[in-house]
Amino acid sequence: MDVDTIATAHNGRLRTIDPLLPDVDRHLAAPDGADLLVEAGGSAAAGFASRTEVAADSRDALSRPLVEHTLSVHLAGPEPGAALEGLLTRWEAALSAETAPGDWDTAAVVARPSRDSAGCAELLRHGFSAVRVLAARPADRLVATGPRATPGVHIRPAEQGDLATAVELQLELRNYEAQFGVVTHRPDAGKVVEAELGDLLSRDNPALWIAELYGRPLGMLHVQMPHETGWVAPYTSASRVGYLSSLHIAEAARSSGVGTALAAHAHQLFDEASTDVVLLHHALANPRSTPFWCAQGYRPLWTYWYRRPAVH
Ligand SMILES: CC(C)(COP(=O)(O)OP(=O)(O)OC[C@H]1O[C@@H](n2cnc3c(N)ncnc32)[C@H](O)[C@@H]1OP(=O)(O)O)[C@@H](O)C(=O)NCCC(=O)NCCS
Repeated sequence: MDVDTIATAHNGRLRTIDPLLPDVDRHLAAPDGADLLVEAGGSAAAGFASRTEVAADSRDALSRPLVEHTLSVHLAGPEPGAALEGLLTRWEAALSAETAPGDWDTAAVVARPSRDSAGCAELLRHGFSAVRVLAARPADRLVATGPRATPGVHIRPAEQGDLATAVELQLELRNYEAQFGVVTHRPDAGKVVEAELGDLLSRDNPALWIAELYGRPLGMLHVQMPHETGWVAPYTSASRVGYLSSLHIAEAARSSGVGTALAAHAHQLFDEASTDVVLLHHALANPRSTPFWCAQGYRPLWTYWYRRPAVH
């Protein structure tokens, strides 16, 4: 089977599995053909391997290992899992040749459409875990009843005077998220987060929002509107895409409806911007965010399988 035949079969299968997936893996596949091609049991897999590296003091380094090896996968035929198994074995040989074992700041990453469950067992067998998802919420999603609104919650745009509070909340969120293995501790995190939030606060249209409970700022929301989501929009077939970058509630104020109030505010902003779908990333093992986002109407679109370090 050649690369085009595999891609056609792959896309045909995905279209029946999940209408929110894009038509082709154009955002992930290398333009100049497959790096790896494997046939097994009448099935075939094409893999596009790439390597990215970011500087330790960059903004990107806050939420990923410094070096990521990624494999984009197209599967075709009746036994896609067997074809993926062969592909992972071939990729592993290439990774072992170019990567030092045991380096925590490296990861091997395979992004799979969440509802295309073929190959999950093979990924586990090769030491990968489902660590994070890109979740989607269509604009017309109805949400089940949540907590009663907490009296005293006031939501307002963050202002320059909120910078210190915003940095504190964001660093708290980072520390919490680092437990789940992708967000990574960096010595310069405070400075980098302060610069990033300072940029957001100097904008005309608010991207950062604060929830005050009885006058104290205890929650923070960061949203990206469709004109700034070009980096993530190709992961879905939807045309107007919003992105919910982060939502954090101070520990003392959790489980009392503040997060729900901020999420409802975000969805109102996205509705006003006529988005078709809102996307967000969350760690699957996060016991707070996974049930929370599910209750808010989000469901997995892409699942990110990680092996960290990339080579053991
Ligand atoms: C995830 C997070 C933002 C949620 O905010 P929150 O203010 O705690 O959430 P809410 O109180 O609005 O909603 C959850 C509560 O609603 C209530 N609730 C949920 N569904 C309900 C229902 N159907 N009926 C009645 N009550 C319900 C519960 O009391 C639940 O609290 P519990 O999970 O402790 O039982 C917050 O916990 C947090 O900041 N966590 C740490 C950081 C984090 O993980 N951020 C997300 C990163 S992607």
